[in-house]
Amino acid sequence: MLDQITELAIRTSKEAGAILREGFRTSFKIANKSGKNDLVTEYDKRSEDYIINEIKNEFPSHSFLAEESGKTGRIEKGKVLWVIDPLDGTVNYAHSLPIFSVSIAAVLDGEILCGAIYHPILDELFYAKKGGGAFRNGEPMHVSDNDDYERSMLVTGFPYNVKENPCKCIDHFVSVIQMGIPVRRLGSAALDLAYTAAGIFDGFWEVNLNPWDVAAGVILVQEAGGRVTEYNLEKHNIFSETILATNGKIHNSISRQLTKCHC
Ligand code: IPD
Ligand code: CA
Ligand code: CA
Repeated sequence: MLDQITELAIRTSKEAGAILREGFRTSFKIANKSGKNDLVTEYDKRSEDYIINEIKNEFPSHSFLAEESGKTGRIEKGKVLWVIDPLDGTVNYAHSLPIFSVSIAAVLDGEILCGAIYHPILDELFYAKKGGGAFRNGEPMHVSDNDDYERSMLVTGFPYNVKENPCKCIDHFVSVIQMGIPVRRLGSAALDLAYTAAGIFDGFWEVNLNPWDVAAGVILVQEAGGRVTEYNLEKHNIFSETILATNGKIHNSISRQLTKCHC
Protein backbone atom coordinates (compact mmCIF):
# COMPACT_ATOMS: atom_id res chain seq x y z
CA MET A 1 0.00 0.00 0.00
CA LEU A 2 2.76 2.52 0.92
CA ASP A 3 4.58 1.79 -2.33
CA GLN A 4 1.39 2.12 -4.34
CA ILE A 5 0.44 5.52 -2.87
CA THR A 6 4.00 6.80 -3.22
CA GLU A 7 4.03 5.81 -6.88
CA LEU A 8 0.68 7.51 -7.34
CA ALA A 9 1.93 10.73 -5.70
CA ILE A 10 5.00 10.68 -7.96
CA ARG A 11 3.07 9.99 -11.16
CA THR A 12 0.31 12.53 -10.56
CA SER A 13 2.74 15.27 -9.50
CA LYS A 14 4.66 14.81 -12.74
CA GLU A 15 1.56 14.67 -14.91
CA ALA A 16 0.01 17.71 -13.25
CA GLY A 17 3.39 19.43 -13.64
CA ALA A 18 3.20 18.76 -17.38
CA ILE A 19 -0.19 20.53 -17.46
CA LEU A 20 1.38 23.55 -15.68
CA ARG A 21 4.35 23.52 -18.06
CA GLU A 22 1.99 23.58 -21.02
CA GLY A 23 0.17 26.64 -19.68
CA PHE A 24 3.27 28.52 -18.50
CA ARG A 25 3.72 31.90 -20.26
CA THR A 26 0.51 31.50 -22.26
CA SER A 27 -2.44 33.81 -21.73
CA PHE A 28 -4.68 32.30 -19.08
CA LYS A 29 -7.38 33.45 -16.71
CA ILE A 30 -6.25 34.90 -13.38
CA ALA A 31 -8.57 35.76 -10.49
CA ASN A 32 -8.07 37.19 -7.01
CA LYS A 33 -8.70 35.26 -3.81
CA SER A 34 -8.18 36.92 -0.40
CA GLY A 35 -6.50 40.07 -1.72
CA LYS A 36 -4.93 41.92 -4.65
CA ASN A 37 -1.88 39.64 -4.69
CA ASP A 38 -3.48 36.36 -3.66
CA LEU A 39 -4.11 34.87 -7.09
CA VAL A 40 -5.55 31.77 -8.65
CA THR A 41 -5.11 30.88 -12.31
CA GLU A 42 -7.07 28.50 -14.45
CA TYR A 43 -4.02 26.21 -14.28
CA ASP A 44 -4.24 25.88 -10.47
CA LYS A 45 -7.69 24.42 -11.05
CA ARG A 46 -6.80 22.26 -14.03
CA SER A 47 -3.87 20.77 -12.14
CA GLU A 48 -5.96 20.11 -9.02
CA ASP A 49 -8.87 18.53 -10.93
CA TYR A 50 -6.45 16.26 -12.74
CA ILE A 51 -4.71 15.09 -9.54
CA ILE A 52 -7.92 14.44 -7.63
CA ASN A 53 -9.50 12.50 -10.49
CA GLU A 54 -6.44 10.30 -10.92
CA ILE A 55 -6.27 9.51 -7.20
CA LYS A 56 -10.03 8.89 -6.96
CA ASN A 57 -9.80 6.41 -9.84
CA GLU A 58 -7.29 4.36 -7.87
CA PHE A 59 -8.57 4.97 -4.33
CA PRO A 60 -12.27 5.97 -4.42
CA SER A 61 -12.60 5.89 -0.61
CA HIS A 62 -9.73 8.27 0.23
CA SER A 63 -10.28 11.86 1.43
CA PHE A 64 -8.75 15.08 0.10
CA LEU A 65 -7.57 18.39 1.45
CA ALA A 66 -6.67 20.46 -1.59
CA GLU A 67 -6.07 24.19 -1.89
CA GLU A 68 -8.67 25.09 -4.49
CA SER A 69 -11.48 22.64 -3.65
CA GLY A 70 -10.98 22.34 0.12
CA LYS A 71 -11.99 19.20 1.95
CA THR A 72 -13.60 16.27 0.13
CA GLY A 73 -14.68 13.32 2.25
CA ARG A 74 -14.23 13.05 6.02
CA ILE A 75 -10.90 13.30 7.81
CA GLU A 76 -11.19 10.26 10.03
CA LYS A 77 -9.10 7.65 11.78
CA GLY A 78 -7.70 4.95 9.54
CA LYS A 79 -8.53 6.83 6.33
CA VAL A 80 -5.86 8.19 4.00
CA LEU A 81 -6.02 11.95 3.45
CA TRP A 82 -4.37 13.39 0.33
CA VAL A 83 -3.01 16.88 0.91
CA ILE A 84 -2.55 18.71 -2.38
CA ASP A 85 -1.15 22.01 -3.59
CA PRO A 86 -1.73 21.84 -7.36
CA LEU A 87 0.46 24.89 -8.02
CA ASP A 88 2.69 26.18 -5.27
CA GLY A 89 4.06 29.52 -6.40
CA THR A 90 0.99 30.88 -8.15
CA VAL A 91 2.20 34.49 -8.01
CA ASN A 92 5.43 33.45 -9.74
CA TYR A 93 3.46 31.47 -12.32
CA ALA A 94 1.10 34.38 -13.01
CA HIS A 95 4.12 36.66 -13.52
CA SER A 96 5.92 34.16 -15.79
CA LEU A 97 8.67 33.46 -13.24
CA PRO A 98 9.74 29.80 -13.66
CA ILE A 99 9.80 28.92 -9.93
CA PHE A 100 6.77 26.87 -8.93
CA SER A 101 5.85 23.30 -8.10
CA VAL A 102 3.20 20.66 -7.54
CA SER A 103 3.06 19.24 -4.03
CA ILE A 104 1.24 16.04 -3.05
CA ALA A 105 1.32 14.13 0.25
CA ALA A 106 -0.64 11.27 1.76
CA VAL A 107 -1.38 11.45 5.48
CA LEU A 108 -2.79 8.77 7.79
CA ASP A 109 -3.89 9.59 11.34
CA GLY A 110 -1.80 12.76 11.35
CA GLU A 111 1.31 10.97 10.12
CA ILE A 112 2.72 11.84 6.70
CA LEU A 113 3.19 8.61 4.75
CA CYS A 114 4.81 9.98 1.62
CA GLY A 115 5.29 13.17 -0.35
CA ALA A 116 6.20 14.25 -3.88
CA ILE A 117 7.19 17.71 -5.07
CA TYR A 118 7.74 18.34 -8.76
CA HIS A 119 9.41 21.36 -10.36
CA PRO A 120 8.07 21.19 -13.95
CA ILE A 121 10.46 23.68 -15.52
CA LEU A 122 13.61 21.93 -14.29
CA ASP A 123 11.94 18.50 -14.54
CA GLU A 124 13.07 17.87 -10.96
CA LEU A 125 11.18 15.37 -8.87
CA PHE A 126 11.64 15.14 -5.10
CA TYR A 127 9.95 12.35 -3.18
CA ALA A 128 10.10 10.49 0.11
CA LYS A 129 8.21 7.76 1.87
CA LYS A 130 8.17 7.05 5.57
CA GLY A 131 11.25 5.11 6.59
CA GLY A 132 12.38 4.87 2.96
CA GLY A 133 14.67 7.88 2.54
CA ALA A 134 14.36 10.91 0.26
CA PHE A 135 15.24 11.18 -3.42
CA ARG A 136 15.82 13.78 -6.12
CA ASN A 137 15.32 12.42 -9.62
CA GLY A 138 15.85 8.91 -8.25
CA GLU A 139 19.11 9.71 -6.42
CA PRO A 140 19.20 9.63 -2.60
CA MET A 141 19.38 13.13 -1.14
CA HIS A 142 20.51 14.45 2.23
CA VAL A 143 20.33 17.70 4.13
CA SER A 144 23.53 19.77 4.32
CA ASP A 145 26.08 19.07 7.04
CA ASN A 146 26.87 22.71 7.83
CA ASP A 147 26.87 23.30 11.58
CA ASP A 148 27.88 26.96 11.50
CA TYR A 149 24.69 29.02 11.63
CA GLU A 150 26.45 32.19 10.46
CA ARG A 151 27.64 30.42 7.30
CA SER A 152 24.17 29.19 6.38
CA MET A 153 22.03 29.99 3.40
CA LEU A 154 18.43 30.19 4.48
CA VAL A 155 15.04 30.65 2.85
CA THR A 156 11.74 32.02 4.07
CA GLY A 157 8.43 33.34 2.78
CA PHE A 158 5.69 35.76 3.75
CA PRO A 159 1.96 35.15 4.04
CA TYR A 160 -0.56 36.97 1.83
CA ASN A 161 -1.91 38.89 4.83
CA VAL A 162 1.50 40.29 5.82
CA LYS A 163 0.19 43.86 5.44
CA GLU A 164 -2.55 43.34 8.03
CA ASN A 165 -0.57 40.94 10.18
CA PRO A 166 3.21 41.40 10.00
CA CYS A 167 3.67 39.44 13.23
CA LYS A 168 6.06 36.49 13.27
CA CYS A 169 7.58 37.35 9.91
CA ILE A 170 8.94 40.86 9.25
CA ASP A 171 10.88 41.22 12.49
CA HIS A 172 12.10 37.63 12.21
CA PHE A 173 13.32 38.25 8.69
CA VAL A 174 15.05 41.51 9.69
CA SER A 175 16.69 39.92 12.69
CA VAL A 176 18.26 37.12 10.57
CA ILE A 177 19.22 39.29 7.62
CA GLN A 178 20.89 41.78 9.97
CA MET A 179 23.37 39.08 10.92
CA GLY A 180 24.60 39.09 7.32
CA ILE A 181 23.16 35.63 6.65
CA PRO A 182 21.91 35.23 3.06
CA VAL A 183 18.15 34.69 3.09
CA ARG A 184 16.23 33.88 -0.10
CA ARG A 185 12.49 34.18 -0.87
CA LEU A 186 11.60 31.86 -3.74
CA GLY A 187 7.80 32.08 -3.54
CA SER A 188 7.12 28.34 -3.32
CA ALA A 189 7.21 26.91 0.19
CA ALA A 190 7.19 23.37 -1.20
CA LEU A 191 10.37 24.08 -3.17
CA ASP A 192 11.90 25.82 -0.12
CA LEU A 193 11.44 22.56 1.78
CA ALA A 194 12.57 20.35 -1.12
CA TYR A 195 15.75 22.40 -1.49
CA THR A 196 16.34 22.20 2.25
CA ALA A 197 16.00 18.42 1.99
CA ALA A 198 18.45 18.44 -0.93
CA GLY A 199 21.08 20.33 1.11
CA ILE A 200 20.87 23.50 -1.00
CA PHE A 201 19.41 25.54 1.85
CA ASP A 202 20.49 24.90 5.43
CA GLY A 203 17.10 25.94 6.77
CA PHE A 204 13.63 27.34 6.10
CA TRP A 205 11.07 29.07 8.29
CA GLU A 206 7.65 30.58 7.66
CA VAL A 207 4.44 31.49 9.50
CA ASN A 208 0.79 30.89 8.52
CA LEU A 209 1.33 28.25 5.88
CA ASN A 210 -1.41 25.77 5.06
CA PRO A 211 -1.19 21.96 5.24
CA TRP A 212 -0.92 21.70 1.43
CA ASP A 213 2.13 24.03 1.40
CA VAL A 214 4.14 21.87 3.79
CA ALA A 215 2.93 18.26 4.02
CA ALA A 216 5.10 16.79 1.25
CA GLY A 217 8.10 18.98 2.12
CA VAL A 218 8.08 17.98 5.78
CA ILE A 219 8.56 14.29 5.04
CA LEU A 220 11.23 15.14 2.45
CA VAL A 221 13.26 17.05 5.05
CA GLN A 222 12.78 14.39 7.72
CA GLU A 223 13.67 11.50 5.43
CA ALA A 224 16.71 13.45 4.17
CA GLY A 225 18.00 13.54 7.76
CA GLY A 226 16.75 17.01 8.75
CA ARG A 227 14.56 18.29 11.56
CA VAL A 228 11.14 19.94 11.45
CA THR A 229 9.50 21.70 14.42
CA GLU A 230 7.56 24.85 15.21
CA TYR A 231 9.71 27.96 15.84
CA ASN A 232 9.82 27.16 19.57
CA LEU A 233 10.89 23.52 19.01
CA GLU A 234 7.41 22.17 19.75
CA LYS A 235 6.37 19.18 17.63
CA HIS A 236 5.21 20.25 14.18
CA ASN A 237 2.02 18.99 12.57
CA ILE A 238 0.63 20.01 9.19
CA PHE A 239 -1.80 22.46 10.86
CA SER A 240 0.89 24.21 12.95
CA GLU A 241 1.05 28.01 12.75
CA THR A 242 4.84 28.10 12.33
CA ILE A 243 7.39 25.83 10.69
CA LEU A 244 11.14 25.60 11.11
CA ALA A 245 12.86 23.00 8.92
CA THR A 246 16.64 22.65 8.91
CA ASN A 247 19.53 20.28 8.50
CA GLY A 248 19.23 19.66 12.26
CA LYS A 249 22.66 21.09 13.06
CA ILE A 250 21.68 24.76 13.00
CA HIS A 251 18.14 24.13 14.25
CA ASN A 252 18.53 25.33 17.84
CA SER A 253 20.40 28.47 16.77
CA ILE A 254 17.63 29.59 14.40
CA SER A 255 14.94 28.62 16.88
CA ARG A 256 16.63 30.77 19.56
CA GLN A 257 16.75 33.71 17.17
CA LEU A 258 13.13 33.36 15.97
CA THR A 259 11.73 33.00 19.47
CA LYS A 260 13.67 36.08 20.68
CA CYS A 261 11.41 38.27 18.50
CA HIS A 262 8.45 39.61 20.50
CA CYS A 263 5.90 40.24 17.78
C1 IPD B 1 2.37 30.34 -1.35
C2 IPD B 1 3.82 29.99 -1.56
C3 IPD B 1 4.73 31.04 -0.93
C4 IPD B 1 4.42 31.25 0.54
C5 IPD B 1 2.95 31.60 0.70
C6 IPD B 1 2.09 30.47 0.12
P1 IPD B 1 0.65 29.52 -3.28
O1 IPD B 1 1.53 29.33 -1.91
O2 IPD B 1 4.13 28.75 -0.99
O3 IPD B 1 6.08 30.67 -1.00
O4 IPD B 1 5.22 32.29 1.03
O5 IPD B 1 2.70 31.76 2.06
O6 IPD B 1 0.73 30.74 0.33
O7 IPD B 1 -0.42 30.49 -2.96
O8 IPD B 1 1.56 29.97 -4.33
O9 IPD B 1 0.11 28.13 -3.48
CA1 CA C 1 0.95 27.00 -1.65
CA1 CA D 1 -1.29 26.86 -4.57
